[in-house]
Amino acid sequence: VKQVILRSHPNGVPRATDFSVVEAAMPSPADGQVLLKTLWLSLDPMIRLSLDENVITGPTKVRIGDVVFGATVSRVEASRHPDFAVGDYVDGRTGWREYAAIDPKAVPLRKVDASVAPLSTAVGALGMPGQTAHACMIGVGRVAAGETVVISAAAGAVGSLAGQIGKILGARVVGIAGNDAKCAALVKLGFDAAVNYKSPDYAEKLKVACPNGVDCYIENVGGTVTEAVLPLFKYRARMPVCGFIAYYGVGREGPGPDKLPGFMRAVMSKGLEIRGFGGTMVAGPAALKDLAEWVKAGKLKVTETIVEGLDAAPAAFAATFADNDHIGKVMVRVAKDA
Ligand SMILES: NC(=O)c1ccc[n+]([C@@H]2O[C@H](COP(=O)([O-])OP(=O)(O)OC[C@H]3O[C@@H](n4cnc5c(N)ncnc54)[C@H](OP(=O)(O)O)[C@@H]3O)[C@@H](O)[C@H]2O)c1
Repeated sequence: VKQVILRSHPNGVPRATDFSVVEAAMPSPADGQVLLKTLWLSLDPMIRLSLDENVITGPTKVRIGDVVFGATVSRVEASRHPDFAVGDYVDGRTGWREYAAIDPKAVPLRKVDASVAPLSTAVGALGMPGQTAHACMIGVGRVAAGETVVISAAAGAVGSLAGQIGKILGARVVGIAGNDAKCAALVKLGFDAAVNYKSPDYAEKLKVACPNGVDCYIENVGGTVTEAVLPLFKYRARMPVCGFIAYYGVGREGPGPDKLPGFMRAVMSKGLEIRGFGGTMVAGPAALKDLAEWVKAGKLKVTETIVEGLDAAPAAFAATFADNDHIGKVMVRVAKDA
């Protein structure tokens, strides 16, 4: 059976060649374990932080030769644990592999009800990215009707959901994304405007899209994308720091020049409220109920980019950090549910 291991610690932006797809023996569950067949693998940018030799943050370290860490939706194929039966669906961080023998005490597993929504949503709109989008807009961002909210990496899993939640809340929603096709897709999802940060007049276009200034900026990126937002902040605006993908892989030092003085000035003079957070911790299970209701009512559209087979995972993951056409949650269909 196949699994993906780390071949080399990425230097900056990851490459597909930093990973190897290798064959391993079919695992066999010990007492207290379950044998899982992976159906869906979620490709999350946060995984990048686990791949460095010196991990600066994140839930785990992946060493050379280790199976890459990641969230999956799986089916129980054999069970030696009283709480899990053959045929149950679960999500958990079981890694980039076709089969895994898991002790739920070591790797927590959440049962997934396949009758509620397609299974892939358990690691997308109805899972961690959905909860994170909920936290961005509600728990941390406190976005209110009539406010203007700007979202970076807006065409991604979190951003595409956060923007739609912003519309449910009655806000003006402006997305920032890396090409015109993504911007058009965001407007189709209900965003009021979307701006391509790679266009030469990006900062000017963002200003035009936010005629009343910015009440809340969902930070997913950092760097020059964020710099253009700073002058648009209203007094006492909020800036939930959900992620900082432009800096993943640059360690703590980052490339110069250091723009911190200008940033600190904006924080102080605009009374910015900046708060970092873990989406699942802030949003909790209550958010999953909201998300499921919105999906059922047709208020929240689920957008996914699906790649086929574990072999495709390394290149699709690497593409997250470069030019790509991904819209919504990036998922690997590791196996069909049959
Ligand atoms: N705090 C939490 O609990 C939590 C949970 C989940 C995710 N996150 C964070 O939230 C952010 C979005 O996650 P996601 O799952 O929505 O990601 P995603 O669906 O994989 O989308 C990531 C997108 O970010 C953009 N990007 C990549 N490198 C960039 C750069 N250098 N500058 C500007 N944009 C860049 C790319 O789109 P473009 O074409 O637009 O460049 C890429 O497709 C990430 O920072 C992630 O780490 C945080």
